[in-house]
Amino acid sequence: MSSLAQQAVPELEATLGFTRAADVSPDTERPRVLRARTLPLDADLHSAFDFRTCTLRDCAACETPVDLETMGFEPIDLSPNRRLQDVLAVIRREDRISEQSAARLRASLRGWRLRLRNGKPLRLLFIAPEGLIFRRAGPNGLQVNERVRDAANGHDGAQRVHGDQDVYGTPLKQMLRGGAPRLFRHETPDGCNRRSPFFLLNLWIPLQQITRPLVLMDRRTLDPKRHQLRYALPVTSFLERDEERSLNDIWAFLHDPGQQWYFHSEMDDGRAYLFDTLGQPHGACALPGESALEQLFLRLRAACDALVAGDAAALKAAAESAPEALPDVTTVPIRAAYQRMTALLEEIRVRRADLPQGPEGWIQRARAAMDRVIRKSVELRTVAVVAPRWWPL
Ligand SMILES: [Fe+2]
Repeated sequence: MSSLAQQAVPELEATLGFTRAADVSPDTERPRVLRARTLPLDADLHSAFDFRTCTLRDCAACETPVDLETMGFEPIDLSPNRRLQDVLAVIRREDRISEQSAARLRASLRGWRLRLRNGKPLRLLFIAPEGLIFRRAGPNGLQVNERVRDAANGHDGAQRVHGDQDVYGTPLKQMLRGGAPRLFRHETPDGCNRRSPFFLLNLWIPLQQITRPLVLMDRRTLDPKRHQLRYALPVTSFLERDEERSLNDIWAFLHDPGQQWYFHSEMDDGRAYLFDTLGQPHGACALPGESALEQLFLRLRAACDALVAGDAAALKAAAESAPEALPDVTTVPIRAAYQRMTALLEEIRVRRADLPQGPEGWIQRARAAMDRVIRKSVELRTVAVVAPRWWPL
């Protein structure tokens, strides 16, 4: 076990956004399923969701045997795939996914084979042309995306708990002419296919994830009939779609205290999650301590601007206000980021007329520390086949 794992807190509490009970009604098309009202795109997030405090188990601290086929998600090792590592380095450097990187990413994964935790070999057969997304999410919900949103870039972390695709819904229904439920392994409130070896999976790769982590539910703790809800998501603001496919059929969820949640307090691009696209509940949250990081981020940004503008009063103001304290329970990477950022501000406070590497050197280090607390992740959808244990890799 790494030193990080020895120090990490096994559980902490964070707030997740669920569907409000007032927005739920019986579905008019599928009698055994509930539906959630589609929210306007400009809805006020604080009143639109049912925010609940949930206990999150940190996979860095507990050796929980999570596995895809029972819990709906599983961490995998990406380090053997060198072609993938090379293209992830380009995405990290460019801070976006270009069309060229998208093509190289798909090529590096097509046909890739790995062994799941339960011993079964899995092969990625196909990487979907849609659903490749690069997300940038600031600490505590701070907006850090200045670019215009398109299909792949400019996306923040997902604000609420959701499942990415209804196997009976748009666009799968049109793409496979209604054949998706027979083709893919799935479990919905009104149907299931437990025999197929074919999975529709999300591959979620964190380039860095100190803040705003992906949280995933242990699927066994979900009561689909009571808490899984059809949801029509408008997608024309970032996807080119005709009228018939202007709403994606995804899943929303109601909260229940029996649901169990997992996250990883620090993942990099050497590891990723595979999770079931067809209903695995997931979302992003702010961890305890992120509000202090957000404040430090804003003060470092103000100090950088003041140094560039030569504004001594603004620089003094940014350096001298007291930092917000960290809560007792937080993660090891958040504590380390906090120390890095407060040390930079202390350096400005004490030595602003005599910075060791000059203002440019300080600005460079400050921007690197700020960048480090932005969660960056790449996600894509893939069709995979899982073979029996005895099948050779
Ligand atoms: Fe998602």
